[in-house]
Amino acid sequence: MNMQTRLLTVGSDPQTDPAVGEAAQLIRQGRVVALPTETVYGLAGNAADPEAVSRIFAAKQRPEDNPLIVHLAGPEQLDLVSNRVSESARKLAAAFWPGPLTLVLPAAEPFRRTICRSLDTIAVRVPDHPIFLAVIRRSGLVLAAPSANLSGRPSPTTAAHVLDDLNGRIPLVLDGGPCRVGIESTVLDLSGDRPAVLRPGMITADTIGAALGQAPVRFEPGAENRSPGTRYRHYSPDAVVYLVGPAVNQAARSRLWTHLADKKHTGYIGSQALPESLEVEKETPVSTGDLARRLYEILRDMDRRGVTHLVIDAVDESGAGLSLMDRLRRAATHVLLSKEDIDALTT
Ligand code: TXA
Ligand code: MG
Repeated sequence: MNMQTRLLTVGSDPQTDPAVGEAAQLIRQGRVVALPTETVYGLAGNAADPEAVSRIFAAKQRPEDNPLIVHLAGPEQLDLVSNRVSESARKLAAAFWPGPLTLVLPAAEPFRRTICRSLDTIAVRVPDHPIFLAVIRRSGLVLAAPSANLSGRPSPTTAAHVLDDLNGRIPLVLDGGPCRVGIESTVLDLSGDRPAVLRPGMITADTIGAALGQAPVRFEPGAENRSPGTRYRHYSPDAVVYLVGPAVNQAARSRLWTHLADKKHTGYIGSQALPESLEVEKETPVSTGDLARRLYEILRDMDRRGVTHLVIDAVDESGAGLSLMDRLRRAATHVLLSKEDIDALTT
């Protein structure tokens, strides 16, 4: 599928920008285009067209059974994609759209055969990004869009990341600058008896519960079979990743660094002081939100700097920290929560 990939920057008025018109036209022709959202860049195509959907799966090398999220211009389009939109769904749509919340609802017929794969539900959201919204409106279609990375790689949060993975595989990338949120939307299943968070995101279970008047079942690893995408190892840089929990004491940490000392190139994401003798590529996030925004960028950057072994400090799992830890666990080769875990690795 070697083709020329064009990169166009969108100006301050997406409504009238010719690049937006070009993207919409390509999509109407059944082609796929990478576009910015507030979370990560998406690879967008006509959700009702089986050929466009095949192109999305092929460009990303996505496993065939992993369904796609459909993106709407506004909640008034909900009835296009589902013929059983509950009161809860309308309430959450009114409260959080446009924004990083994806709702799983019973699917309307035309989409079951395209983006839902074998499921009878559909995942849907309204992205909070003027470029993406302008392309939806100009195309007159609803758009399937997974993250615009090769399957298994960290999601792209800049147009350059998209090109890293998909150059030569898609016709067009619209550059709208870096994404504001940096990790993917919360996925909330409303098709069962109780709302269930299938993928945690920056809109937390508590926030959803407050808007709904009913707390969703919280994200647990056990929920993985309900959201096909969460089965796969995800978000992985090339480096071997060691995720180190807060209960690991200084002595055990030192043993880990000694163990890594003879490795060629080490990196660290965290705020602890490191032994002076070590040469380490270090990134110190200032907050959970800061790390969420920059995590995928940092992971890709560590690869670019040739880091082969990367140590990451776990973050507090309260609030939005839960979604960050979900992504960090998936990126990790080794999850080291105790002194014993470090011993097992280093002896
Ligand atoms: O923030 C986001 O959600 C980004 C931007 C581009 O909108 N999109 C995104 O798409 O992260 P993707 O394809 O990388 O992840 C979609 C997730 C997968 O875990 C998939 O399995 C799940 O949503 N999903 C899609 N349809 C589903 C359904 N009907 N039931 C349960 N899970 C579903
Ligand atoms: Mg993805």
